[in-house]
Amino acid sequence: MTKEQTYALLVEQVRSLVQGEDDPVSVMANVAAAIHTTLGFWWTGFYVVRGDELRLGPFQGPVACTRIERGRGVCGTALERGSTIVVPDVEQFPGHIACSSESRSEIVVPLRGSDGRVLAVLDIDSRQLATFDDTDRRHLEAIASIVAPAIEPPRQ
Ligand code: SME
Repeated sequence: MTKEQTYALLVEQVRSLVQGEDDPVSVMANVAAAIHTTLGFWWTGFYVVRGDELRLGPFQGPVACTRIERGRGVCGTALERGSTIVVPDVEQFPGHIACSSESRSEIVVPLRGSDGRVLAVLDIDSRQLATFDDTDRRHLEAIASIVAPAIEPPRQ
């Protein structure tokens, strides 16, 4: 199967996992598991926005940092910019937070609420350099836009 085909199936799987679900933890847990088992990267998970920092959410892989300040590391920078960051070599990213010394490359994709605010970020780490390309970015952004409405807090 090509990478495109693998992602096309994964996106459909995510769509059906999210369908009819509104519990953020359940949704993020199953989506992290689906991505992780399909793509086989080193670490796959969500960091959720809490005030001015990110807190570790559901993930698959080794233990990770619990809190990341806005603007710090790849995840905190993606939160601040509100856009996807692809890092081919984590050692070249100023301020990269090494939760695991095994991580060599990384992609972080923001999940936006209906008002455009970032609700969480999806972070995937690889043990190889330059793992993530435009195909990964495009499909992971599609996954982020499917998951975001299911983790949005109800309007007051
Ligand atoms: N490397 C990330 C921290 C999270 S872990 O990779 C799971 C960063 O710099 O934001």
